Amino acid sequence: MTPVLPHFSYTADGHLCCEGIDVHGLAQAHGTPLYVSSGAAIQDAYTRVARAFNPVRAHVHYALKASSNIHIVALLGRLGAGADVVSGGELERAWLAGIPLRDITFAGVGKTAAEISAALDGSRSPLAGRADLPSGVRPEGRGRVGLFNIESAGELDRINAIAADLRVPFEATIRVNPDVDAHTHAYTTTGRRENKFGVPLSQAEALARDNPGSIRGFHVHLGSPIASPEPFEEAIDKLLPAIDRLSHSEPAVLNVGGGFGVDYGGQAAQPAPIEVFGQRICERLADQVNAGALRVIIEPGRCIVAQAGVLLTTVQYVKDAGAKRFVVCDSGMHTLLRPALYGAYHFAWPALVGPGMTPTSLRPEVAPERLTISDLVGPVCESSDFLATGRPLPDVSPGDLIAVFCAGAYGQSMASTYNDHAKPAEVLIIDGRPQLIRRRDTAFSLIAPELHL
Ligand code: LLP
Repeated sequence: MTPVLPHFSYTADGHLCCEGIDVHGLAQAHGTPLYVSSGAAIQDAYTRVARAFNPVRAHVHYALKASSNIHIVALLGRLGAGADVVSGGELERAWLAGIPLRDITFAGVGKTAAEISAALDGSRSPLAGRADLPSGVRPEGRGRVGLFNIESAGELDRINAIAADLRVPFEATIRVNPDVDAHTHAYTTTGRRENKFGVPLSQAEALARDNPGSIRGFHVHLGSPIASPEPFEEAIDKLLPAIDRLSHSEPAVLNVGGGFGVDYGGQAAQPAPIEVFGQRICERLADQVNAGALRVIIEPGRCIVAQAGVLLTTVQYVKDAGAKRFVVCDSGMHTLLRPALYGAYHFAWPALVGPGMTPTSLRPEVAPERLTISDLVGPVCESSDFLATGRPLPDVSPGDLIAVFCAGAYGQSMASTYNDHAKPAEVLIIDGRPQLIRRRDTAFSLIAPELHL
């Protein structure tokens, strides 16, 4: 077996396997496009993150936006993760996955009154009173969310008013916009002054001073993916003096966000390993933590699930267009949006290869004369509908399976039904056995709401 990534290997006769299971069998059983994730890879990645931040005993709140399938969240919950959610929908998912409300942080710039109410009082949950929930699952009485991450003075006013109305207390951190450049894609940079996120530090301090009963500390998230620890250090240096000025009897909370980069292959420089992020961030925070003055939260998503998932897609047509070849697949921007939206690179390779074509990493060394420059494209009627462009690839034919690697984060969670394509099915290998964790949508399930069915 030759690993491309931990838990994803090619057999000697060229078959791609996830945890030793041939992905062709999964594609046959469930069809394509199909997301396949390795539970063992998720577990290993989570353990690495938790260990890296153990010197400050950081609590890991998994960012559901990376991959919000209930079964994946439940797996992480069993490992001890809390959750970072950014909508009422994600909050219900985290809770259904078994994460206690007190271990959930509710973030997001646009929380509605209904979402805030459900986070404070389970009887306001959209699931309350439903007879079709699994037995024993009742949102009433589930308590209130552990922390809100507050993004504006107006949001704090709204939460104060709703909490008073419902007669429940709440706790929160204020998201600070530290004006630090995370050196990532413009669309995913969040900690610059011109970004919509958070409030300036002076305003965050004023809000904390005026609301000593509810504001426990500060939150910062700089962007995603971030390749090196320096932006975190810069932001922490700006925030720590403000933490010291919070004169609380309990330890203050500092949530340093997520955004730790992972390797996707290609020409890009490899990001620092999570151990380096952990060491450098912990060094900055250890004194306050050891003095009992600080409690640290991190909220990573990508570095836990990205490399644990592949997208399997079937070649429909191969079209030669002079200088290049179009490989038309049954996946595209509707299945995996990252290449179209950010120009993101995902290593892609046939799931069955001949001798000498087995990749041994995300940067395979195969003789270029055996490869053809190809665009991997989808069925959607847009020229931005691609999974990869200008890529040297082995020859493929209609019916062949292609694996798009590192698709476990922001793949299924950003998938759409554009052009009325059904969202993919999803398989998780858990305890060595494949489980269908989301069935494929159908043409009927897309139309039903319009027929009021
Ligand atoms: N916390 C906050 C407040 C965030 O906004 C995000 C990501 C995270 C945590 C988790 O970041 P992670 O550890 O997963 O990098 N769709 C883009 C990424 C956008 C991320 C948005 N926020 C992509 O596909 O790369």
